[in-house]
Amino acid sequence: MPSSAESPNASDTENVNKSRVFDIAPDFIGSYVQSRPAAGPNPFGNNLPTRPVPKKSDAIINSTESKLSPLGNSELALADKYSSPDVYIDGEKDTCWHPFTDNLEWKPMRFETRTGTFVLVLRILEDTWLGKHRHRGSVSAVTLKGQWNYKEYDWVAKPGDYVVENPGTIHTLHMTKGTKVVFTISGSLEFFHDDGTLKNTMDIFSYAHLYYEHCKKQRLKPNDGLWY
Ligand SMILES: [Fe+2]
Repeated sequence: MPSSAESPNASDTENVNKSRVFDIAPDFIGSYVQSRPAAGPNPFGNNLPTRPVPKKSDAIINSTESKLSPLGNSELALADKYSSPDVYIDGEKDTCWHPFTDNLEWKPMRFETRTGTFVLVLRILEDTWLGKHRHRGSVSAVTLKGQWNYKEYDWVAKPGDYVVENPGTIHTLHMTKGTKVVFTISGSLEFFHDDGTLKNTMDIFSYAHLYYEHCKKQRLKPNDGLWY
């Protein structure tokens, strides 16, 4: 484990305070169920940071560095009409850390409902063994800081390592203090008690619910722009 493990609270607390997204919004509290993002070109919906969404091909068509063929331009017209815009999430201002278990916090980066895939960053506050769980979808993980492993395997993931977990696998997670990992998760996770009986099942909406409940409790404005 690195000796320079990041303090989990200092800079993030400061950043949340400076956030343009998480202003106190009394009229919003308790109403998130009715506040699905509005359809339209702005992927961040209403009442959230408005970033200009340029026509996607403008930068390419107007570029002096490259000229596309007529076929290329024609294909770009289809892309402009049917593709989804690129999305930028500011890791400090557009989302926030919140508790998951006593020693574990996570920060949502994306909720994608077409495939039930969600992206989150986990960070561990103390060296901890977490519950045994089974995946019903696939998972990939990129380690940003610290070390983590599963009891069932002999590898230890360190910064820069990449892990893939496949549907049906069962494993028991261990993370050292200060570890930070980006997980991309599809489908559901089943968590088990120590005796092997099923404890609960969680999917994209379970995690989103935790995020929205946290925002409600802390009187923060949740970012509907995370649904993309
Ligand atoms: Fe897992």
